[in-house]
Amino acid sequence: MDFKHWKLDLDAEHIAWLWFDRAGTTTNTFSSEALRELGKVAEHVRAMPPRGLAILSSKDNGFAAGADIEEFTRIKDAAEAMAFTNLGNEVFDQIEALPFPTVAMVHGFCMGGGTELALACRYRVMDDGPKTRMGLPEVMIGIVPGWGGAKRLPPLIGAAAALDLMLTGRAVDARRARSLGMVDAVTPRRHFENAARRILMQPPPRSRPKLAAAVTNWPGVRNVVASQAAKQVAKRARRDHYPAPYAIIELWRDFGGDVRNVPPEHPASMASLAAHPTTKNLIRIFQLQDRLKALGKPGSDPANQATATPGSDPVRHAHVIGAGAMGGDIAAWCALRGITVTLQDLAPERIAPAIKRGAELYKKRLKQKHLVQGAMDRLVPDVAGNGVARADLVIEAIVENAEVKRKVFAQVEPRMKPTAILASNTSSIPLQELAGVLARPERLVGIHFFNPVAQMQLVEIVEGPQTSAEVMQAAQAFTRQIDKLPLPCKSAPGFLVNRVLSPYLNEAMLLLDEGVPPETIDAAAKDFGMPMGPVELADMVGLDICWAVGKELADADTPIPKLLQANVEAKNLGMKTGKGFYTWVKGKPVKADIGTGTVDLKALADRLVAPALNESVACMRERIVADADLVDVGMIFGTGFAPHRGGPIQTIRERGKQEWLKVLEDLKGRHGLRFEPDSGWSAL
Ligand code: NAI
Repeated sequence: MDFKHWKLDLDAEHIAWLWFDRAGTTTNTFSSEALRELGKVAEHVRAMPPRGLAILSSKDNGFAAGADIEEFTRIKDAAEAMAFTNLGNEVFDQIEALPFPTVAMVHGFCMGGGTELALACRYRVMDDGPKTRMGLPEVMIGIVPGWGGAKRLPPLIGAAAALDLMLTGRAVDARRARSLGMVDAVTPRRHFENAARRILMQPPPRSRPKLAAAVTNWPGVRNVVASQAAKQVAKRARRDHYPAPYAIIELWRDFGGDVRNVPPEHPASMASLAAHPTTKNLIRIFQLQDRLKALGKPGSDPANQATATPGSDPVRHAHVIGAGAMGGDIAAWCALRGITVTLQDLAPERIAPAIKRGAELYKKRLKQKHLVQGAMDRLVPDVAGNGVARADLVIEAIVENAEVKRKVFAQVEPRMKPTAILASNTSSIPLQELAGVLARPERLVGIHFFNPVAQMQLVEIVEGPQTSAEVMQAAQAFTRQIDKLPLPCKSAPGFLVNRVLSPYLNEAMLLLDEGVPPETIDAAAKDFGMPMGPVELADMVGLDICWAVGKELADADTPIPKLLQANVEAKNLGMKTGKGFYTWVKGKPVKADIGTGTVDLKALADRLVAPALNESVACMRERIVADADLVDVGMIFGTGFAPHRGGPIQTIRERGKQEWLKVLEDLKGRHGLRFEPDSGWSAL
């Protein structure tokens, strides 16, 4: 039989090998066509029948990435959503019902529908390589594991562990999958065929959860497990903002994990979730994240001319100057991602704390001793700056002072390889102010990381007036090399993220001056959907930094926040000094329970958010980034701006431009010219 997306071989031992090779793409995803074909394959092998069936992928990058998101976004109504869901279920049920042993051979990424197909097989073999991961990340795009994942995973590994994976969307490597009981064998990919053959020729007993895990599926225990899971979810997300995690719990508790049992009008149904604005926004953000990833590849994004240049070689050696809060962590992160890093500062004792933080990061992330040692070996203290001459990339992260930076640039540039790139991590100094001392200003670029480096995915790639397209492209490729998301920006004060964030933080500071308690301000922002309130955020970032950035970016119409100034003068700088607007104990702010029952949180949130939206519009007008989508994805990955709302520009679209203009005009009437709508609104 001939298939477009699948290839079937029968070997001498009568084992059938089914290769998934979705036509026309480098990644396997399940379109309806690919699913229908798999159904036909299942009928065909059932009629054969072989001694056993092994399912594997022809693609280098992995087994399967899940449902075809493009197709999912084209779904028009509830009926279509259910049809796509039912199709996947019927086909995977056919695989499960095959009357001979079946095994999935998983390498690379295996996500969503990929994992659900693997779970429909009787056995699973998993590659032990570092790039292999298996998970059910549907929750991250606002849906549930609806092709049998929520039905088959809990009985296999216990409901508590299964809910944890489904509710966080976290993917696991082979060791973890094995210890959870998700896979039957873990082996390097070169031994895949033998491992699968052994299982199919002599099928072992099927994997069962240990008693302690199995208990969590028992009827009496089920409600307790569900309510505990719901409590955990409630701490992180509200149902009106994020319905999917609540739907996953109900799907498992009340409907046996099978979406076909959920009535369409139920909030946990696939139809309800597919129609929810959060789902649409999360899917859009997921696709935009892919767009940022593609910016690391040349010629990939028509909106960005810089990408139309040839590919760049990976960075093998980076030299970082300045081992402070940022430079130290940037160096440690680059070494974690496999790059040799020399780290320079004025004295060895300034580098030592960065090396110590690096060791802690590696222990946490890499776990295995030899991998930790490998990363430590790549992170080399270098007070003399000998690494400059060997580096492909030099990143400057010294004090935020243009004069000092220029001095360092003038010393360093003549010692660099002519092909090397010079980058600054400056958060506010325009590159044109630094480029004057350079013989090759076209090789200077801003690579602006966010704090904390290990957690923040976004990196702004700042294009100065002289930066060459080739260097922009190389900086974007480097960002992907270290597994971060590059956002190309123009070199203007605050770039995108700090510029949009600054008026929002400033407004919070002015509300404090008016006597509004910090807890109330933070509650209003969280009610809007921010992951953390602005006062807590300011304390975390450091009030000295907020003060400096605020001064740099605020215009003449914006009053100076008095309490902020007083705190900075008193050296109450927030988390790092134990006291700011909050008192900090063990890394957490102590918040009074002030009860916000009578406060209009929505109006308060409008006052905080409207200036950020206004600034986003100004950034679009000035083309700080190429388009509205990049504003949204930049603010979400740079600051966590209410992901379920889809970012600032999407927030404007959803409530309506006219509505937001009314909000701004009203605030301007009451609080002054800082709320004057930007001239860019008319072009929006
Ligand atoms: P920091 O004060 O923690 O570290 C600066 C380090 O540079 C110090 O260890 C200092 O000894 C060293 N240094 C100064 N002059 C030097 C020289 N001539 N040669 C070698 N080392 C020298 O500062 P931080 O916070 O790490 O900031 C560094 C840069 O990163 C600044 O440009 C800042 O604007 C930017 N940035 C800071 C962020 C933050 O949240 N702290 C976020 C993003 C960017």
